Amino acid sequence: MPDIGFLNGRFMPLDQAMVSVEDRGFQFGDGVYEVIRTYRGVPFQLEAHLGRLERSAKAIALALPYQSREWQDFVLEGIRRGGYAESKVYIQLTRGAAPREHLFPVAARPTAVMTVREMRPIDAALQASGVGVITVEDLRWGRCDIKSVNLLPNVMARQRAKEAGAFEAIFVRGGEVTEGAVSNVMLVRAGVLVTAPEGERILSGVTRALVLALARKEGIPAEERAVSVDELRRADEVFLTGTTVEILPVVRVDGALVGTGKPGALTGLLSERFRSSLG
Ligand code: PDD
Repeated sequence: MPDIGFLNGRFMPLDQAMVSVEDRGFQFGDGVYEVIRTYRGVPFQLEAHLGRLERSAKAIALALPYQSREWQDFVLEGIRRGGYAESKVYIQLTRGAAPREHLFPVAARPTAVMTVREMRPIDAALQASGVGVITVEDLRWGRCDIKSVNLLPNVMARQRAKEAGAFEAIFVRGGEVTEGAVSNVMLVRAGVLVTAPEGERILSGVTRALVLALARKEGIPAEERAVSVDELRRADEVFLTGTTVEILPVVRVDGALVGTGKPGALTGLLSERFRSSLG
């Protein structure tokens, strides 16, 4: 079964889905996106992802070509056509194809793209052992709450992490931890869960919100506030959250051990609760 492509309302084999070289997503990064995964074949937190897609599009004054209801049907249809045990759905919306000019094109219609591929779970050994991260300066723009396809700083940072033998790069802006290149960051200190607050400096992660809700349900105090890079280094536990990483323990920050150097107890508890919440 070939991977599934979708372009402006039509499904097709992925290798046949083509957009113009004048597409503004390609030329300006003028677009927004979402990544959605399935658990047991069911798209996880679909409404939350589509809600965020709508907010991102609105924030860049991009008219949505389809309502959430229609996207829902497209996503379900794409998953059905792919026929994978678990799917990873990518949606991208751009301001469309037009002769290159910074101003919004008057006539162009948005380009709506979706791909559906097999979702492979994150390596169980990584989950069990935890991962290393590096810290990097957050060179991104001031609206990280918009899930924009402009990902060059994220690409550069994640590549640097890989070359340093680490899994993820953690952005630091003015001495404060914002988030990872592809994930949100949480830490535990003296039994309190701490993570950067929602706002323009981070993407409001769907997984982040869920983990905070699970923690509060467990009676774990959770603070959404600025986190200094020193606090990250002194934390008892650190972990990443995100669609692709789920809850991933961090055991090294810039080569130094976090806590005992083993995934922490609260991280384990939250992972367990997260798993059971999936049904
Ligand atoms: N990224 N922060 C950033 C910068 C991200 O790119 C992501 C997800 C997250 C986590 O958000 P969520 O829990 O809603 O997946 C936080 C996706 C998976 C990606 O770009 O591939």
